[in-house]
Amino acid sequence: MKTKLVRTLAALRRETTKWRKEGLTYAVVPTMGAIHSGHTELVAQGLTRADRVIATIFVNPKQFAAHEDLDKYPRDEDGDVLKLGKAGCHVIYLPTPEEIYPEGFCTTVSATGPAKAGLEDKFRPQFFDGVCTIVAKLFIQTGADYAMFGEKDYQQLQVVTRMAKDLSIPIEVIGVATVREDDGLAKSSRNVYLSKQERQQALAIYSSLSHAAERIRGGLDIQSAARLATRTLMALGFTVDYVTVRNAATLAPPQNRDEPLRIIAAAWLGETRLIDNVAV
Ligand code: PAJ
Repeated sequence: MKTKLVRTLAALRRETTKWRKEGLTYAVVPTMGAIHSGHTELVAQGLTRADRVIATIFVNPKQFAAHEDLDKYPRDEDGDVLKLGKAGCHVIYLPTPEEIYPEGFCTTVSATGPAKAGLEDKFRPQFFDGVCTIVAKLFIQTGADYAMFGEKDYQQLQVVTRMAKDLSIPIEVIGVATVREDDGLAKSSRNVYLSKQERQQALAIYSSLSHAAERIRGGLDIQSAARLATRTLMALGFTVDYVTVRNAATLAPPQNRDEPLRIIAAAWLGETRLIDNVAV
């Protein structure tokens, strides 16, 4: 099978119209490129649900703050296309900025609820409006039946799930379990920035969250478990942005321990910011 590259909305719609006429279903996998096995797992999971899979690659300027250096985001179109093709993607949509944000563009999708849970939004205030705006556009442009998102970016998964529901976009958002290195570190395009020593320290983020989740299940109170994980990470040299236990869907602080819960963290090792989460 040959993977087709499309760069315009018109070319994308030629493919999807053809699939619809044939009665086929299809999934979309939105990405910003820098493809690794976390992304290709989303493609693999899409293929188990739908007849066809579209991956999108677009480094979305609207979700970067001025200091976040959009220009430094890793770009490797040829490598990405190869990896997505090998994973079984049928179409790769690589829109130009003009295709997404045409001259005069002035509409933003703005979210509250899980998008204002005081997690990533606290450190990156414009981030989720940027994500919602591009993701809503990609949902509408592709008209896909399914959208595959990683649990790795847990708040993003809840935000886009809620957005699709609120805007009545007829797409099912599917969360895919985080793909990890052998020692448990979540795969991320940022892992290459870690020094050898930091890479060794980095596995503590997953192990400390897993221990905390285990302790909560064993009866320890939620606050103490989160505090313990925070202290462990700080002792190992992390600068902790947050470690917190939240309702797994709304991301609100839990009212009682019988709700579905998720322990979620963001922490710095040197210049690198890592995020991770596990189910309680
Ligand atoms: P990006 O960081 O490229 O991630 C694309 C998708 O891959 C997201 O759904 C993310 O959660 C998933 N992903 C990343 N690492 C993963 C891992 N280790 N295991 C499983 N899934 C993983 O997230 C974005 O792009 C952007 O915000 C986007 C949604 C494309 C909007 O611009």
